[in-house]
Amino acid sequence: MVTASAAIPDVDWSRDAIIKRRDKYFAATQRAFVPYRTPLIIKKGRGQYLWDEDGNRLIDLLGMNLCISVGHAHPAIVAAVREQVEALTHCTTMFHHPIPAHFAEELAATMPKGHDWVVHFTNSGAEAIDLALMMARCSTGNSDLIALRNSYHGATFGAQGVTGVRNFRHNIGQLPNVSFVAEPNQYRGIFGPGTQPYLDEIDRTIAYTTSGRLAGMIMETVQGYGGIVFMPDGYMKGAFERIRAAGGVCIVDEVQSGFGKTGDAMWGFEAHGVVPDIVVMAKGIGNGIPLGAVVAKRDVAESMSQKFLFHTYGANPMACAAGRAVLRVIKEEKLIENARKVGAALKAELDALMQRHKIIGDVRGRGFMMAVELVEDRQTKRPAPEETAEVFEATRRNGLVMSKSGNFKNVLRMVPPLCLSMDDVQPVAQALEKSFADADRQRWAVAR
Ligand SMILES: Cc1ncc(COP(=O)(O)O)c(C=O)c1O
Repeated sequence: MVTASAAIPDVDWSRDAIIKRRDKYFAATQRAFVPYRTPLIIKKGRGQYLWDEDGNRLIDLLGMNLCISVGHAHPAIVAAVREQVEALTHCTTMFHHPIPAHFAEELAATMPKGHDWVVHFTNSGAEAIDLALMMARCSTGNSDLIALRNSYHGATFGAQGVTGVRNFRHNIGQLPNVSFVAEPNQYRGIFGPGTQPYLDEIDRTIAYTTSGRLAGMIMETVQGYGGIVFMPDGYMKGAFERIRAAGGVCIVDEVQSGFGKTGDAMWGFEAHGVVPDIVVMAKGIGNGIPLGAVVAKRDVAESMSQKFLFHTYGANPMACAAGRAVLRVIKEEKLIENARKVGAALKAELDALMQRHKIIGDVRGRGFMMAVELVEDRQTKRPAPEETAEVFEATRRNGLVMSKSGNFKNVLRMVPPLCLSMDDVQPVAQALEKSFADADRQRWAVAR
């Protein structure tokens, strides 16, 4: 009989071996995304902190791309998962289990009152996006979809087809019947600041590039990989009116902005006074355990009842146990409030940083969705990707993990776990100040 410890294969933690093995056996599609010049190997995470393989502690401002919502190795999530793995690791959706059903009920309860919400669990965000697009088409009988430029919705065929960033769109025939409209980016949007010109563009797009009858529109409430672009006041409301007038449904992608990330409420759309027809969520839902979900109005979801559609691991009880624990922890530890308060303190530091470094063209965000955009010139707003890369490398040396985002790779994106605390604000501010100063020195050295 194989004992538990004998069944765990050896792990080679030596740096060169990790890099070599990954380079040799990962396909190009999975190998390519390496942000730092020297790969970062991470060994441990606790709360808002990470440790690399040399034992250096880093403040995590990325949360593993927002998957770690309530903190690395949060004891409540670990306990919930451990208990469920030991009891029953998987239960196919053909059979009944109480935990996914409980979680569906609890997620539905987070949605606006007065509507009948139902839940379909998937394995990932992109799968949930694909399902949402199908639901939009099935429920309306229409094909045309509207998406925003500068959006990211995932890597699958459907999700990629509504993604509006070149680097994520492969040179293959993409999903047909998708029209893109300009994102209402208040810093560098093509119509400048304001909301109306972007709404007018939706009208024009419906009139010129669609049949006039829509399946729907999909949008993030905060464009994440696009560089933290919040939808401005009135935009979602105006867009929803236009889409519904053309027969479509409104899909909101909360994969990044959901689970309290903006510090306003559980869902990003709540700050806009709108009620979507379909809400897509993933990432933070399981605090690192793979899970996604589509939450839709019953009549919209019911349109797909004539065929089978299942995701093998969707509604996995272990993942749903993690999800239930995430909802509980967010509430009990008042993490949305924490994101609001700590986020405001961090934002004040970023604004001060901008006063000292003219390469910063914009500081934006709320709660724990924040960005610093680097430009060569504040007037022309010409992006500064090379300088951004220098600052980004320096942030790691100075003990921070964040990401480089945006279509021009000139945005430092900060989306920490909801447990980042007031005690972390000064260390983050000092590390950022030092990183900008280091990058400045580096530039001077190269110029000389
Ligand atoms: C806003 C948004 N939507 C959808 C997705 C796709 O999620 P997944 O990578 O879990 O498929 C992502 C992933 O980064 C995302 O950021």
